[in-house]
Amino acid sequence: MAVPDIFQYGSASEYSVVNAFLTIYACYILGVAIHRLFFSRYAKFPGPRLAALTYGYMFYYDVIAGDGQYMYKIKDLHEKYSERLYQYSPVIRISPHELHVIDPDFYEVLFAGAYTKRDKPPTWSHAFSNFDSVFGTIDHDKHKVRRSALNAFFSPSSLRKLEPLIQDSISRLIAVFRQYQKSGEAIQMKAAFGAMTNDIIAEYCFGISENYIDTPNFNAEAVKAADDLTESMHITVQVQWLPKLLNRLPDRWTESIFGHGMAKLNEMKRHSIRKIKETISSRGDFRNVKHRTIFHDLLDNPNLPEEDKTVDRLWQEAQLLLTAGTVTTATSISSALVYLLLDPRRLGVLLEELETAVPDITKPKSSTELENLPYLNAVVQEILRLVTGVSYRLVRSAPNETLQLGKWSIPPNTAVSMHAPLIHHSPDLFPEPWSFIPERWLADPGPAGLPARPSNIPPANPKYLVPLSKGTRQCIGQPLAHAEIHMTLACVLRTFARAERDEHGEFIGIKGIKLFRTDRRDTDLKRDLGFPAPEKGRGNMRIVLEGL
Ligand code: HEM
Repeated sequence: MAVPDIFQYGSASEYSVVNAFLTIYACYILGVAIHRLFFSRYAKFPGPRLAALTYGYMFYYDVIAGDGQYMYKIKDLHEKYSERLYQYSPVIRISPHELHVIDPDFYEVLFAGAYTKRDKPPTWSHAFSNFDSVFGTIDHDKHKVRRSALNAFFSPSSLRKLEPLIQDSISRLIAVFRQYQKSGEAIQMKAAFGAMTNDIIAEYCFGISENYIDTPNFNAEAVKAADDLTESMHITVQVQWLPKLLNRLPDRWTESIFGHGMAKLNEMKRHSIRKIKETISSRGDFRNVKHRTIFHDLLDNPNLPEEDKTVDRLWQEAQLLLTAGTVTTATSISSALVYLLLDPRRLGVLLEELETAVPDITKPKSSTELENLPYLNAVVQEILRLVTGVSYRLVRSAPNETLQLGKWSIPPNTAVSMHAPLIHHSPDLFPEPWSFIPERWLADPGPAGLPARPSNIPPANPKYLVPLSKGTRQCIGQPLAHAEIHMTLACVLRTFARAERDEHGEFIGIKGIKLFRTDRRDTDLKRDLGFPAPEKGRGNMRIVLEGL
């Protein structure tokens, strides 16, 4: 059979087909470029032309020029465009389809609460293959249904019921720490506290945990896997079909391409799927579980549509809870110990407060009692400000509302983002933003017996402390995170640290806990990898426990 001309190599018609295709493609690219620059809803906002034209601009700063540096570039761009426009420019365009706002007073408008509608355009929320989890859900109404089904588990009354489990996990961790105290071996804090937070949330989700606390080295590989995964976050933010494709590929392929982190992630995924299947098979029968779990109740929830109760969706919810409830809190607790151990005087003040509040360490206090301790609370607020837990810019759009920011009207359905670290580290809101000064959070005048706020530091305004975000999609685990941080710090410090005093009662130093090859470089945010990351090669926060 004769082969048509266009399939013959080098024929004139082949070239004409290719030429036609290239011309159409060039016209398409030109059309997209013209639309992005002049006609898109984002076109009237100031910002670099390149950022308006292509996501490559963001990719360059987040991947090529350095890990996670776009956040800092965005801050510079706000300044640059303010100068160029001869007036403060609180909003700039940072990609073809995203604006960024730096005005901290806009936070409550963008991340608004009840009675407002906020969609969540997919950025980092689709980078980890949890598109159908509550975190990845784009549409406001769909999110509301999914979130309502989860809310009850994180209410203050649920938390009170959960406290014995939290306390039991902390006590088990303390028992393991005692073995480290005997051997003198350094403890990797993120792994240790990550094992604890993981055991708590896993038990809450499924009624049983993997017991990472008692696993050799606290299953440090899990924390390493999460770190490895975040290292590739800026690629999967850009290439959003990649996680979907990876979900469909055989595990061994993805592991051989992406390595160990991916292998661990797949293990977690399989684990979540197995657990969800087990839970579905015991639907309505709780005899073999220690207490009602999140997933048994989700399956029984009449307000959650059946299509939201499939294995395919629920494993994503499970994986989200297991990750969101683990690394963030573990990082906060570890960083708190680093900042405190680098500042023995302030640690001395905290220990004195804890010694009075918890005279008998075998009778620990509830999270509510601990959250009422002014200095401990100030320390936790200062850590959440400095470390922030989630560094990536959070995005929202108002589906049927025009948002007003000064002279700028932001039309409905426009993606707008804000960065919590740029608020937390703003010298205008928090003078000496990189210094650890818990006193800035104390009431004015400060409580008796506590150090006074330095004269150059005004009282901090809690309105600008947003590590867990705000509004309809703020962190659902906030009460759990606060309880874990307060209770763990109190227990670890009361058990292992002592303030040393001379014969006049003057403070001379801290005994019992020391940092091991760790300093601020292991915790200070230098790279925005979704979660805050220190400079490359750092981040292994370690302590050594000494006999008292
Ligand atoms: C210090 C610790 C924590 C920090 C800093 C933190 C921070 C955040 C932030 C900023 C968000 C909003 C994300 C976005 O809008 O894209 C979020 C959402 C979320 N967090 Fe946390 N989180 C912490 C602990 C926890 C814990 C312990 C849990 C327990 C399960 C948890 C579960 C979640 C979930 C499920 C969401 C999604 C909520 C939704 O979209 O409705 N987080 N978290």
